[in-house]
Amino acid sequence: MRSLIDILDLSVEEIDDLIATACDIIDNPDKYAEACKRKKLATLFFEPSTRTRLSFEAAMLELGGSVIGFSAANNSSAAKGESVADTVKTISCYADIIAMRHPKEGAALVAANNASIPVINAGDGGHCHPTQTLADLFTIYREKGRLSDLTVGFCGDLKFGRTVHSLINALSRYAGIHIVLISPEELKLPSYVKKDVLQKNGIPYTQTTDLEGALPELDILYMTRVQRERFFNEEDYLRLKDSYILDLKKLEKAKSDLCVMHPLPRVNEISVAVDDDPRACYFKQVLGGKYMRMALILKLLKEASV
Ligand code: NCD
Repeated sequence: MRSLIDILDLSVEEIDDLIATACDIIDNPDKYAEACKRKKLATLFFEPSTRTRLSFEAAMLELGGSVIGFSAANNSSAAKGESVADTVKTISCYADIIAMRHPKEGAALVAANNASIPVINAGDGGHCHPTQTLADLFTIYREKGRLSDLTVGFCGDLKFGRTVHSLINALSRYAGIHIVLISPEELKLPSYVKKDVLQKNGIPYTQTTDLEGALPELDILYMTRVQRERFFNEEDYLRLKDSYILDLKKLEKAKSDLCVMHPLPRVNEISVAVDDDPRACYFKQVLGGKYMRMALILKLLKEASV
């Protein structure tokens, strides 16, 4: 059974196809309005979410399917001590496809190994978040017309930010990518991502603590929030949370066609004044995420039916 646990589970060609389907959905929504008639998506969210869960739900509804699920672990039998394996075996009796978010790294893989329907990883701890990456790639493609030959800056919590880890993995397969890692010392990209992804694929990268210094060379700036829920102590969080705040003054130093992205939720990292700047792409990213999730649901359900 084909699931999506890691962005590398999809080939570059498959990602191209998903982008093409998402574009076609935007142009011809009626064509897809009943594509998932009588199919059910189960959203199993053991960790809070606004965008990811609701965008999965909106995606399935726009495909003519329906949605069941829960939005917090304490609304499920996890609160009674049920394992992820048993939960997904149960859900496999009710639904056709699962989107699952869990605070533990590896939980999505456990789910996929136990479900008899496709499982989509909607975030597993600080590990990865492949459907956010699909939203990110779609946004980059729509804004820049390409996924290669780009200088991409990642700023903020590069240690715990699963969206960062997934997008770096995805970008490592395109030519001419330069990565600039901008973070406080304590929140640097984990060395396993540097070694296994950047160094292994020969992707040139630099590390800095200086956002303003890095800004002028960037085509894409991917801002992230400091991941409070993954900190061991609140003092460290409070010390680091406002390390970077992007405002209009700082943007004066950036390229006129910079694309500012953020997986959201935003806390303080981007001043709201930036929202009106044409370079702000983070709400377009939200919309793109819904279309890419539609394309993904269609693909996985189609593959499951043959
Ligand atoms: C991200 C996540 O959950 O990892 N949010 C999202 O899905 N768009 C980013 C975050 O929580 O900071």
